Amino acid sequence: MNLVDIYAEFQSDIQFIERELERAIDPQNVELHQSSTHLLKAGGKRIRPVFVLLAGQLGQYDLTKLSYVAVPLELIHMATLVHDDVVDDADKRRGKDTVRAKWDNRVAMYTGDYILGKALMVATELKNPEIHRILSKAIVEMCKGEIEQVRDLNNWDQGLRTYLRRIKRKTALLIAISCQLGAIAADAEPEIVRRMYRFGYNAGMAFQVRDDILDFTGTEQQLGKPAGSDLRQGNITLPALYSAFVGADRERFQKWIKEGTVDDHIDEAIALIRAGEGIEFARQVADRYINLAKDALADLPETTTKRSLLEIANFIGARNF
Ligand code: IPE
Ligand code: IPE
Ligand code: MG
Ligand code: MG
Repeated sequence: MNLVDIYAEFQSDIQFIERELERAIDPQNVELHQSSTHLLKAGGKRIRPVFVLLAGQLGQYDLTKLSYVAVPLELIHMATLVHDDVVDDADKRRGKDTVRAKWDNRVAMYTGDYILGKALMVATELKNPEIHRILSKAIVEMCKGEIEQVRDLNNWDQGLRTYLRRIKRKTALLIAISCQLGAIAADAEPEIVRRMYRFGYNAGMAFQVRDDILDFTGTEQQLGKPAGSDLRQGNITLPALYSAFVGADRERFQKWIKEGTVDDHIDEAIALIRAGEGIEFARQVADRYINLAKDALADLPETTTKRSLLEIANFIGARNF
């Protein structure tokens, strides 16, 4: 079974979520509706809603109830992307123009806020304050992660810990709570809820490490945006850190860093990272997280849900889109 099969199994439920996503972004405000729909229609993997649905199978599966967390989670994700593209000056997302490129940064600011507000409106359908607390905390942490990324732009004086903390906040926590909230919304056992959080957290860490690898190794077609964007924007990720401090080309990097001339050698730097050991190191780090994610499922009974979760973990560990 691969990712396509897992999605196929859920096809009608995913379509339901899709319709609910469209409904959530209601057309009352023409401009915000257009800019929000632009990103929604550009596609995306919808991996967070899929995690909600899978986690929901570990309790009492109620699609309507699950949609009240799946839709907010995808919307929070989308809102962050709209803002992230402002921060990253990105022109392409999901193969289309970003909101900031098609409109401008001001429109993107309010489109992100609008989508976020809509996410919270949907979440209020659930009368469980714990769910609201978990969602709000994740939004707070994502803001911290993104602002840390802004603060650490072009800062080569950062280690692995700083990098890992940043990706935990900006990416892993939202995936962790997608798994956690799916289980909570289905009234799963507390032990299962904990395991799902742990699974999602580790899968989420691997997800962002792979994303950072892909930014160097992917093609524009796979990525839906130009490769090498991270370093060009000054976002220093794991493959870059490894090449600059540990890899065979570190002296060259150290010289540029000392002179403050990395930007002047950007194409060369990207080529060195692409061909260097940092990519393989990052792959190993991602694999370690994938194994931790799988460990979290070890004691769950052998069901098709567990098989699907393991399959998605494998997909994340090897993904190229
Ligand atoms: C992109 O997330 C941002 C990261 C957290 C790496 P996705 O890769 O899930 O983006 P879409 O939703 O599929 O476009
Ligand atoms: C993920 O980081 C950002 C969010 C969590 C929104 P990136 O900046 O790597 O995401 P992409 O590569 O633009 O999708
Ligand atoms: Mg970005
Ligand atoms: Mg990226």
